[in-house]
Amino acid sequence: MAIAETTRAQMREVLDRYPRKRSALMPLLHLVQADEGFITPEGVTLVAELVELTEAEVTAVSSFYTMYLKRQSGRVRVGVCINSLCAVLGGDEIWDALVDHCGTGNNQTTDDGAVTLERIECQAACTHAPVMTANWEFLDDMTVEKAKQVVDDARAGRPIQSTRGPAVRSFADAERTIVGVDDGLVADGDHRDDRILAGLRLAQQNGDAERSAEAERRGAQTVKGN
Ligand code: FES
Repeated sequence: MAIAETTRAQMREVLDRYPRKRSALMPLLHLVQADEGFITPEGVTLVAELVELTEAEVTAVSSFYTMYLKRQSGRVRVGVCINSLCAVLGGDEIWDALVDHCGTGNNQTTDDGAVTLERIECQAACTHAPVMTANWEFLDDMTVEKAKQVVDDARAGRPIQSTRGPAVRSFADAERTIVGVDDGLVADGDHRDDRILAGLRLAQQNGDAERSAEAERRGAQTVKGN
């Protein structure tokens, strides 16, 4: 399947952002996934040409990072954080329950093609452990029951709402957002996060101007990053 001209145009726009073409390697790989669903040989060839690296160099990067996929996913990639904090606060239990519920394992897709389960590492969202993701959108403070509901909704084609952002969209749309293609959703969802801002409040209460400024800066970055 040929990579669409619209995707190729987005690739050229991304290339123009960087003084060195090779710096665009990772976003271009996300655009390959947006178009093809995973990192295809054709995508590797195209990206190698655009960033002026060898196919071996592009493959070395795409095979290293787990966000770059080796095969087609289900419509919703459901990630369960199994890193230490999430794991002890319920992530391991959620993972085991979803494996039973779906009859699949890591990086495997349900028979109906709806859900691919994935064990994911720390999402830098430990304040809301145990954390899950659906097509890269956060699902905070999860329980076994809420996790099963997410999977059931995905399999039934019902909408899934992120706990702090917009409704979960397609994997392809999420991949384009990662690259920085404007999705028009910046104001969607509730981005306030009392737990992440707890450090700021404590510093303000204690009259600690320096820590307060630092916490405010970090809180702003976190909210922006969401
Ligand atoms: S350990 Fe799960 S988000 Fe950090």
